[in-house]
Amino acid sequence: MPRNQPAADFCPPFRVPLQHKIAALSLAAISLAAAALLWQPRDVSAQDAPAPNTVAFYTQRVQPIFEANCYRCHGGFNHRGHFSIATRAGLLRGGMDGSVVVPGNAAQSLLIRLIRHEGPANDPMPMPPPPHQKLSDADIATITEWIQAGMVMPPDPPAK
Ligand code: HEC
Repeated sequence: MPRNQPAADFCPPFRVPLQHKIAALSLAAISLAAAALLWQPRDVSAQDAPAPNTVAFYTQRVQPIFEANCYRCHGGFNHRGHFSIATRAGLLRGGMDGSVVVPGNAAQSLLIRLIRHEGPANDPMPMPPPPHQKLSDADIATITEWIQAGMVMPPDPPAK
């Protein structure tokens, strides 16, 4: 019987640290969540947020809006209205009705009028077209700022 004793002795020291580890992990998780909560409001007013005339402004703020709301009809192989929004060339080429953006002049840009629902009621329709939801005011403001600041974005990949 004494042979079994070492094994029995081994168990308790292992259990306690494991519980400590779990406690420590949940503490870490909670502090991470708290840190995330504390960080968010600061991020919004962050001084180092990219300026509208930078590539970072496009990749971090504008492109995600296009991706979520426009790519399914104007990205990749989808060019509804003969308009592709995913490349600079596509944006500058415009759609069936010709030019849709004037870099540096948001007010003259059809794209802005369409997302603000200030364009024609149909042909071309408001974008994204009904029944899709209108973009939020914040998203419209972001795209407007970006076009107004010159529509800066990364160079297109070379044509295949
Ligand atoms: C569900 C599909 C769909 C989505 C999503 C969509 N579009 Fe369109 N878009 C179309 C169709 C269809 C046309 C052609 C409509 C027309 O000419 O009346 C078009 C045309 C356009 C045109 C060209 C207008 C012209 O006639 O030259 C612009 C600019 C445009 N869309 C911008 C956007 C933007 C910006 C978004 C995202 C915020 C978006 N679209 C989302 C379907 C879509």
